[in-house]
Amino acid sequence: MTVYEAIEERQSVRAFSDRKIPADTLERILRAGTQAPTARNEQAHRTIAVTDPAIIKQLGSAQAHIGTAPCVLVVYFDGDSRTMACGQPARVLDCSICLSYMVLAAVEEGIQGCWIGGVEVESVRKLLGLPESAVIVALHTLGYPAGDTPRREKKEPSTLYDIV
Ligand SMILES: Cc1cc2nc3c(=O)[nH]c(=O)nc-3n(C[C@H](O)[C@H](O)[C@H](O)COP(=O)(O)O)c2cc1C
Repeated sequence: MTVYEAIEERQSVRAFSDRKIPADTLERILRAGTQAPTARNEQAHRTIAVTDPAIIKQLGSAQAHIGTAPCVLVVYFDGDSRTMACGQPARVLDCSICLSYMVLAAVEEGIQGCWIGGVEVESVRKLLGLPESAVIVALHTLGYPAGDTPRREKKEPSTLYDIV
């Protein structure tokens, strides 16, 4: 699978088969995230791959489909996020890029999932025993899809970019 094919293949999937993600597969996905670029090469992003069913069940109290995934990635950083000259928070962007890398690597492995912004991060932080200084940027479920998910309509690509 090429990167372009993985990009086309990726979609938000919220229904998973019972198949567990093998440890070596999960490791490859996590390693892909570590290769993402980071501002000033700080590499301050951290990922917890939650595979404990009891914890995942609790994460599912926010949105039921989360609780059905065999794995939930929690991407965070510890401390402050420096605001870059462009006005954006460096570590939040770093975490987002890292997660995008992991998601595309997952697609290569036949795994899909869904980015989760709709959670109360304070409860997630406590559930995982993270310090108060930890800033959770996003969660993302991972699993082998159960059946087909209709693809969401995308805007006509040319309306989303310009070449100048
Ligand atoms: C930052 C972000 C937060 C999201 N949060 C949620 C969420 O909390 N729950 C959910 O079911 N989907 C969530 N999604 C998935 C979007 O609904 C989905 O990406 C969008 O509908 C486009 O569909 P696609 O991913 O299949 O292309 C989120 C996506 C992004 C990028």
